[in-house]
Amino acid sequence: MGRKHGERRSLELGGARFVGSEPAAVNFRKDVLEGLARPQKALPPKYFYDAAGSKLFERICRLREYYPTRTELAITRKHLRDIARFAGKRSALLEYGSGESLKTRLLIAALQPSVYMPVDISPPALRAAVAKLLRRFPRLGIVAITADFSHPLGIPAYRAPARRVVYFPGSTIGNLTPEEAQAFLKMTRGQVGPRGAMIVGVDLKKDANVLHAAYNDAKGVTAAFNLNLLARINRELGADFNARRFAHYAFYNPLAGRIEMHLVATEAHAVNIDHYRFSFQRGESIHTENSYKYSVPEFERLAGNAGFHLAKLWSDARGWFGVFGLVAT
Ligand code: AVJ
Repeated sequence: MGRKHGERRSLELGGARFVGSEPAAVNFRKDVLEGLARPQKALPPKYFYDAAGSKLFERICRLREYYPTRTELAITRKHLRDIARFAGKRSALLEYGSGESLKTRLLIAALQPSVYMPVDISPPALRAAVAKLLRRFPRLGIVAITADFSHPLGIPAYRAPARRVVYFPGSTIGNLTPEEAQAFLKMTRGQVGPRGAMIVGVDLKKDANVLHAAYNDAKGVTAAFNLNLLARINRELGADFNARRFAHYAFYNPLAGRIEMHLVATEAHAVNIDHYRFSFQRGESIHTENSYKYSVPEFERLAGNAGFHLAKLWSDARGWFGVFGLVAT
């Protein structure tokens, strides 16, 4: 009783509450072993983001060739009032991702959510984001949720009457296949309820050369980001990957509508993880990421199948990136 009361008070005073459990390292091990045992070796892209990987991703976001981050930020800046009006002031704002971005701070300032709930797989990323947000918004109520949002997620109870709005920026949804993305939107639709809404940042289909350059930057930062996954597996799982035996390979697959990133073995060799041994032929790849690109009608249809309708679309003049305002149907 007393504890519950205390939590509510700290929430109202602008304290942060942390919920959820630390994701078990055993999932990483299991996912890596399973992924490398497949005929087409594959690793889930969510594991890119250890400390080094997160730093590299921040560098990617500043690259001249990598347009999504600055395009989405410019759209958010330009349409901030309209976006805040769409979401509704004092809503409960859930964000998938730690929420350390400038976009998030803009949105919080404009929206003044009654509570802000970042959901992230990484406790350190969450703690850093919350500390930063509390410096900027000392009175903001924060419930930070440690969870892998690619799995069904229970949202803790909080002041009930607020409208729930999920913010999912950065085209992170592009990491999912369209089928997975639809299921994910459906799950979110369940979380926000019949009065809820969602704001999703989606990278749009465009000239394949522009896409290619964004994932094959001249400085090799994307290559380093891709290869860092092997260093993480070595460090955390005691594997013996030699990064010099792999090359970054990224291309646009127009039939699937996605950028594919791979790590291609440049020579035949084997890699050990404990008593498991994985052999690579020369030219064999590990598929490390899909980054799906949608047309507006494609994404609208996906959202429609998940119980949302497209109420607002904010985009840039070139139509490279879309911020979709979805409301529950
Ligand atoms: C964070 C998934 C949106 O797909 O563009 C950037 C990740 N990978 N460069 C993307 C990424 C290579 C990024 N997302």
